[in-house]
Amino acid sequence: MLDLIILSIHFFICFLISVVIWCGSKDVVLRSSSKGTVEAEPDGLVLVGKEDDIKNSQRITAKVNGREVVVFYHEGKFHALDSRCYHEGGPLNLGEIEDIDGQPCIVCPWHKYVITLETGEGLYEGINPLEPSPTPRWQSKGVKQRIHKVTVNNGNVYLQFGPEKEEQCSGCLPLAWLYVPHCS
Ligand code: FES
Repeated sequence: MLDLIILSIHFFICFLISVVIWCGSKDVVLRSSSKGTVEAEPDGLVLVGKEDDIKNSQRITAKVNGREVVVFYHEGKFHALDSRCYHEGGPLNLGEIEDIDGQPCIVCPWHKYVITLETGEGLYEGINPLEPSPTPRWQSKGVKQRIHKVTVNNGNVYLQFGPEKEEQCSGCLPLAWLYVPHCS
């Protein structure tokens, strides 16, 4: 009997978690023309949703010609970036937003990589072993994640797609610094 109760509680918790994830991440699939090009405004902007809807849900994902992007609304600002993590493709749309070193960052749910929402920089906490008493400090790896410019006009939210990752991203780990795993 006790086993049955525990099993029921387990299923109920799993159901609640599924509902929370489903409600917290709203998907938008944008139409593509038969030529495979994004249906964009003449100025190159792509409509991804209504301002109020995104403010209410705090985040949406949108698929544009097979590419997934995530739009966050966090502390009064919109941010958009590719939703697949630069590391191994983890779903950033399911990550937690944390304030790290004074910057809003998304923490990838797979391996806890930290990415700034403003710039797409990868952050890591490292120590300099050459210091007399090494103290962990946040460092930048450079821009690692493709970000997109967000424009709000007349209650609609538009994206202007950033350059391809290779053009936008740069930087690497300074060799002298040792990586300290981030645990949230
Ligand atoms: S896939 Fe995002 S941290 Fe590994």
